Amino acid sequence: MPTTAQPVTNQPTTGLAYQQCIMPRCGAQYSVDEVRTSCDACGSLLDIVYDWDALPVPKTLKWFESKWSRRNEPLCRSGVWRFHELLPFAPPEAVVTIGEGQTPLILTNGVADYIGLNHDRLYLEYEGMNPSGSFKDNGMTAAFTHAHMTGAQRAACASTGNTSASLALYCCSSKLMKAVIFIGSGKISYGKLSQALDYGALTVQIAGDFDDAMHRVQQISKQLGIYLVNSVNPFRLEGQKTIMFRVLESLNWEVPDWIVVPGGNLGNSSAFGKAFHELHQLGLIERMPRIAIINAAGANTLYELYENRGLRWNKGEPDTSIVNGYYAELDSEGRRADTIASAIEINRPVNLYKCLRALECTQGVVREVSEQEMLDAKAQVGANGMGCEPASAASVAGAKLLREEGVIGRDERVVCILTGHQLKDPTATVAYHTADQNEFNRVLGSRGVSRAAYANRAVQVENDLDAIVRAIQLNS
Ligand code: F0G
Repeated sequence: MPTTAQPVTNQPTTGLAYQQCIMPRCGAQYSVDEVRTSCDACGSLLDIVYDWDALPVPKTLKWFESKWSRRNEPLCRSGVWRFHELLPFAPPEAVVTIGEGQTPLILTNGVADYIGLNHDRLYLEYEGMNPSGSFKDNGMTAAFTHAHMTGAQRAACASTGNTSASLALYCCSSKLMKAVIFIGSGKISYGKLSQALDYGALTVQIAGDFDDAMHRVQQISKQLGIYLVNSVNPFRLEGQKTIMFRVLESLNWEVPDWIVVPGGNLGNSSAFGKAFHELHQLGLIERMPRIAIINAAGANTLYELYENRGLRWNKGEPDTSIVNGYYAELDSEGRRADTIASAIEINRPVNLYKCLRALECTQGVVREVSEQEMLDAKAQVGANGMGCEPASAASVAGAKLLREEGVIGRDERVVCILTGHQLKDPTATVAYHTADQNEFNRVLGSRGVSRAAYANRAVQVENDLDAIVRAIQLNS
């Protein structure tokens, strides 16, 4: 059962946390009691900002270890809320938690070999262990808590599948709100769709892709007064900061050299940048890691804008004409995002500007990887660890690419984020391993995947004892 206080509405704001426009030259502020996803004054995204001087911030990160002995308390057990002091926008009694964030950081030498790193240098942060099977629960518990604080009755999102699964789960386990989810037609994996349906969400499938669904859900939420939980919601990103806190915790509070993360709507990368910026500001870490964001080549807006067209945060003065020009091109050419990594099949990432800021403060880099590279990397993750869905493997494929380029050094310490569980999208996995060329071509060939270098094919054998014995001896 989820843990929550009794209905909390109109909590008085403490005044120590507020919402603020991310654009330095605007900087408009709003109370955390308000529900909004953009700045009234200039339309930009919002941050949650804290008056750290007036808040009880621990002196060291090690202090958080004191929570481990109190794991019977839901707020200490949650991998998000045990860092409450670093996202203190909600009073503890308002928090809604389902025990999210129990995720392991796994040292994986087999994948290090594949990437070209020395042993004991590569870690996989397995966010698939969250209750709904993806990293989304980190952000959802935070946004859901805020929704509850503001008295919301319904919450909505557009989704490539994981956000909707997460929202649906928080709604049905807490019974505090109804979930309304928007998905594109034919773009969602069955694993994720099955979750939303099973958890009882009102599921609206629109004729269009994620970018269309995102556009519509913003309109609908405004018109019908439904609380929006997509990552344009700044509270979502507060929860997602804790993925980095847990990475540091697992590394005994040492900062790795690289964090490598898939890029879709760019919420994670934005949240990670904010997390490290705040820790640095608070004197809780001495240096910043570098962030590498990996796009699928078939949904590569960030890569195109950042690496090819020179778009930069530019200390809060980004050249928006580069972005608008690129989007106009996409429209006039009718170009749509297209990748087997359906989770990141997004051409208009809503957190683009926050992500640029994160890239600036972490000396980040952006790369794109092919479908082939993602699927081979995914097979390696599967063969060496817990497995992941295709989009997650972009991080491993990207780390390999950056190693080959010499951007990442052989002895640097690298953390790749595995954003979603292996079972989220079995279609891609089974097609990769199949011996049936027609099935391979149907699912993968049409996307330019020509080989399955790490395929583990099922052995076909007649139903005969001797034949089965021979097959096992031959293949093992
Ligand atoms: N990996 C997975 C498994 C995802 O589900 C998503 C996003 C991403 C990576 C990209 O993360 O948006 O922070 O850059 N999925 C969203 C959804 C869009 O609707 O579930 P991001």
